Amino acid sequence: MLVKNCKIALSDNREVLRDILIEDGMIVKIEAQIPLTESGKAEVVDAGGKLVLPGVVDPHTHMRDPGLTHKEDFTTGSMAAAKGGVTTFLDMPNTLPPVITLDLLLDKKKKAVGRAWVDYGFYFGGAKSDNSAEIPKTRGLVAATKVFLNVSTGDMLVEDLDILERIFRNSELVAVHAEGEMVDRAIGLCEKTGVPLYLCHLSLASEVKSLEAAKAKGLPVYGEATPHHLFLTREDMEENEHTRQFLRMKPELKEKSDVEYLWRAVRSGVIDTIGTDHAPHTIEEKTSKLTSGVPGVEHSLELLLTAVGEGKITLPRLMQLLSEKPAEIFGLGGKGGLKEGKHGDLVIVDQTDRGPVEEDKIISKSGWTPYGKLKRGGRVLTTILRGRVVYDRGKFYGPYGVEIACGK
Ligand code: DOR
Ligand code: ZN
Ligand code: ZN
Repeated sequence: MLVKNCKIALSDNREVLRDILIEDGMIVKIEAQIPLTESGKAEVVDAGGKLVLPGVVDPHTHMRDPGLTHKEDFTTGSMAAAKGGVTTFLDMPNTLPPVITLDLLLDKKKKAVGRAWVDYGFYFGGAKSDNSAEIPKTRGLVAATKVFLNVSTGDMLVEDLDILERIFRNSELVAVHAEGEMVDRAIGLCEKTGVPLYLCHLSLASEVKSLEAAKAKGLPVYGEATPHHLFLTREDMEENEHTRQFLRMKPELKEKSDVEYLWRAVRSGVIDTIGTDHAPHTIEEKTSKLTSGVPGVEHSLELLLTAVGEGKITLPRLMQLLSEKPAEIFGLGGKGGLKEGKHGDLVIVDQTDRGPVEEDKIISKSGWTPYGKLKRGGRVLTTILRGRVVYDRGKFYGPYGVEIACGK
């Protein structure tokens, strides 16, 4: 595939026009003018001078498959991803059954084959029953071991410190749901075992400070922020009965001062990645019982582009957070950036299309968005996966997604 007339942002924040040639799914050349003759009989896509970004790598999604497929499944979740410019996602283990044995992991993998519209990888789950002996068997098969240090959706809380330590020691990388003081507990385990740690969805200023201190000590600790903790506050949640139900998630939305601190860390590089924590529940569930979690893959990129428009973050920095860094941290071979040698995963964006987030065009089975009040900073027109169009102006092509190599 030859993608002509792409506006791309260089690391020094300059914007230039380039053509991008993709062969066998890989970017082989990025130059000012690549003649059609060089592309042989390649498909030509004209980006028409619009912004072209690397495909988003979303390190944190709950696609609910198997067992919770009334909320989302591999097909709908990956289509929603494609629409949002996400070309790779990592799926969390709190499905039904939870992914806490090698057999269950292999089952989940088998069920996903041929159903994904973008590329994907999986987490393995640490269990309170102590499944640490299973973890070495998952080496090279998963992005990381995920451990819940606080109660959340699913029954995956691990409290016993000895079990936690064994889970750490047997893992190559541990991702945690940890809030408040639990962040410090997780960092302590990283320090004690030397095993790299990924802190999911940091939201409190104090948590970010713990991450900062850990990094200053030279510990291998990484931090993630979510779009909902960057764009919404406790005030939005407390507005009325409806928002109290729908904007309920874990960690909860925070005060303005925390949100400001988080933005600063996102800009400065203390925060490494933005993951959506795409956690769909149906409208019926959100209104009839207490459920934590909000969908996100469809709108994360379009929302974050408003921050670029407002000068809150630069495009090169955003691309690091959304693509380069997650690919690097989780060892996602071939993913992570617009560079020769990387996968041909591209998103063409119309920066002039800045309407409201549409609540009536949702692809996710959940059928709603927490961002209905907010504006888009652009629109994803086209998503390209390894040199094939998978989404273009409302139409889907595929499914061409495959599981990608994960881990170091
Ligand atoms: O709000 C949340 N929802 N937080 C989590 O940690 C889990 C997630 C879910 O799976 O629903
Ligand atoms: Zn979580
Ligand atoms: Zn999550």
